[in-house]
Amino acid sequence: MTASPTPSSPSTPWWKKSVVYQIYPRSFCDSNGDGIGDLPGITQRLDHLAELGVDVVWLSPIYKSPQDDNGYDISDYRDIAPEFGTLADFDALLAAMHARGIRLVMDLVVNHSSDEHAWFQSARTRRDSPYHDYYIWAEPAPGGGPPTNWEAAFNGSVWEWNEPTGEYYLHMFSKKQPDLNWENPALRQEVYALMRFWLDRGVDGFRMDVINMISKPWRADGSLPDAPVVREGFLQPGFALTCNGPRLVEFLREMREQVLDHYDTLTVGEAPMATIEQGIALTHPENGALNMLFQFEHMDLDSQPGHSNGKWALKPLDLRDLKTTLARWQTALDGQGWNSLYLSNHDQPRPVSRFGDDRRYPVESAKMLATWLHGHQGTPYVYQGEELGMDNVAFDDIADYRDIETLNIYRVATQERGVAPRDILRSIHAKGRDNARTPMPWTGEAPGAGFTTGTPWIRLNPGFVRSNAQALRADPQSVFHYYRELIALRKSQPILTDGRFELLLAQDRHVYAYTRTLGDETWLVLCHFGGGEPEGTPRAIDGADDPTWSRWLAQGVQGTRVIGNWPGPERVALAGLTLRPWEALILALD
Ligand code: NOJ
Repeated sequence: MTASPTPSSPSTPWWKKSVVYQIYPRSFCDSNGDGIGDLPGITQRLDHLAELGVDVVWLSPIYKSPQDDNGYDISDYRDIAPEFGTLADFDALLAAMHARGIRLVMDLVVNHSSDEHAWFQSARTRRDSPYHDYYIWAEPAPGGGPPTNWEAAFNGSVWEWNEPTGEYYLHMFSKKQPDLNWENPALRQEVYALMRFWLDRGVDGFRMDVINMISKPWRADGSLPDAPVVREGFLQPGFALTCNGPRLVEFLREMREQVLDHYDTLTVGEAPMATIEQGIALTHPENGALNMLFQFEHMDLDSQPGHSNGKWALKPLDLRDLKTTLARWQTALDGQGWNSLYLSNHDQPRPVSRFGDDRRYPVESAKMLATWLHGHQGTPYVYQGEELGMDNVAFDDIADYRDIETLNIYRVATQERGVAPRDILRSIHAKGRDNARTPMPWTGEAPGAGFTTGTPWIRLNPGFVRSNAQALRADPQSVFHYYRELIALRKSQPILTDGRFELLLAQDRHVYAYTRTLGDETWLVLCHFGGGEPEGTPRAIDGADDPTWSRWLAQGVQGTRVIGNWPGPERVALAGLTLRPWEALILALD
């Protein structure tokens, strides 16, 4: 039977009411024993997603690619990488999703292509190739060497010398990911055509990779400026210049008019260094080109700002920073745009290890973080394995890692910066992208955990023995069933979609509290980020310096429990309320 997808209502489009599940195909499910996840593998596992109740799947890239950056380097935008399957497998997957009422969003990677794309293969051979201008070229700097001082995301200069044409080309990521030249109208038409190719095949939208980097900060004389080196050794100095280029809004509006306006889609733009202003400009309900952005401010709070080691320079999270950041986005975009809500994806460590307690309270803290995230205004994203409470891995040997970013920083840190291997490994254990890329554990059976019958392309997280989809689906108290409940709640309760957000207890270092209000209904979300002091002690809420909280106490306000991760009574008074380790509680206030 065909299930219906979540409908739009007059005031609320479907993508605001949806919960999106991200699949990283390489690590999801391998159907043919080659150790690499594939499309038929995803099709086999769709009941897991249907049971979870998600509305939309975002598929990380499955296109033809040399896999220098696991598919974020595309050599043919209209075909499938053979290790993932065929176009027929894709059509079967899409049909099977639609039959379950699940929509499919593709990854659109058009800030750059692969250097093995036919365009670049031609462009790099001669300056008069029709494709030469699809990419970004520059002469050496006056004294020789790279044209600007920008550093690439995966280390080294963004400029690579191209012998046949005697010039440099720009790559903001690896040298196998040359940046596309959006100033060229023919290139833009190619992008719009490939988007139509997938939309006409039936897909329901796009997650757009680093989309706010497509407009480069060209000067009138056709050159690119050097970036100010803010601090000695400051990493990636070009990024600040390229994340909000002068023609960004214009390009995306053109894309909307020429493509997106003609289809019913979900669009989410990945936007490093996005500001609130950019968030509003790009997602405004009237003239925004996209539905929502992935902004990164909350992903940077546990790194030392401006440190030359970038995200690898660890710093404990101060909960008040998280409050300030998220509350700004929540308040500023209310009615002026739309937020995406995420704590994890294929580039980020596992939230339960990063923001929770994966040793003492793995289940409680995974559920608390889910409640915290899904309670906000915006469209929530669940990254594969998050619904199983998956945690980070700590491989001792760099040879067990696969990610280009991780391997590069290890080499640079140990060979060029004199960092001890164990020190950089500590950062990799905390922040490395492979934390998110270990295979989905479907069962507790060694050696492949139901992911593969072969040798997995990257080692499994050893936790699969107890923490796997089969075990969690069988346990009504599991993280999986808690996510299911949260997702169902979002569908049945408009306050979770439309309610106004307000932060409470801004100065509290341990409790993150906020309300959602719709009409005369108010929900209070209380989340305890911690195990108590001393460990295991319930934490009293001190709201003395918060006028709303004080007023509620004076009025004797009570609420009815909506959901929580510890057992508790139906009716709860705010006076004297304490929170157990990593407790989350949503109350509908009287
Ligand atoms: C962001 C993607 O999420 C990441 O995985 C990739 O390495 C870069 N963009 C480059 O495409």
